[in-house]
Amino acid sequence: MQIRKIKPQHKTALIELSKSSFGEESWTERQLEDAITDDNYICIALLDGDEMLSYLIAVQTLDDINIVSIATKRQHQRCGFASMLIKWMINLCQNVDKTLSLEVKSKNKEAIDLYTKLGFKTLHLRPKYYRDGDTALVMFYSCT
Ligand SMILES: CC(C)(COP(=O)(O)OP(=O)(O)OC[C@H]1O[C@@H](n2cnc3c(N)ncnc32)[C@H](O)[C@@H]1OP(=O)(O)O)[C@@H](O)C(=O)NCCC(=O)NCCS
Repeated sequence: MQIRKIKPQHKTALIELSKSSFGEESWTERQLEDAITDDNYICIALLDGDEMLSYLIAVQTLDDINIVSIATKRQHQRCGFASMLIKWMINLCQNVDKTLSLEVKSKNKEAIDLYTKLGFKTLHLRPKYYRDGDTALVMFYSCT
């Protein structure tokens, strides 16, 4: 297993994992394709040969890296894979001196537990941020 930058050759695996993880809320194929070819995005995956076990997509601005999508294959969850990808991103933020942030649905307890365990703090709430009316927790990791 290794963490690799997602390349166009991994596109199908990425689309499958995103769709199976997020259903109707998945990014579209076009959005995912654009992300892996856009230098403003950082797209990494944990690969076992050709199998994509987990992926993380983040978008970078001048001073921040924002995690916009992360998922692990259902049968490989609770193995520490998403944590490995986030720790990789924390390390990058420390090296390039940027902050690390994300938004998460208030209903998504598993994800909130994951981020909290890794040291993210909730900065504020964005009520009705999501299409289904759920509130977003804006979470932040201090990399300094
Ligand atoms: C959230 C998600 C990415 C976690 O991936 P993962 O690879 O299973 O995460 P890890 O194994 O690194 O989990 C680390 C910690 O997070 C918490 N956690 C993860 N999944 C959990 C669950 N189902 N229930 C409770 N806590 C959970 C636990 O504290 C866990 O540590 P532990 O296993 O030692 O108790 C995965 O559940 C997923 O793909 N969910 C669907 C997509 C999604 O909601 N993405 C997040 C959008 S913001």
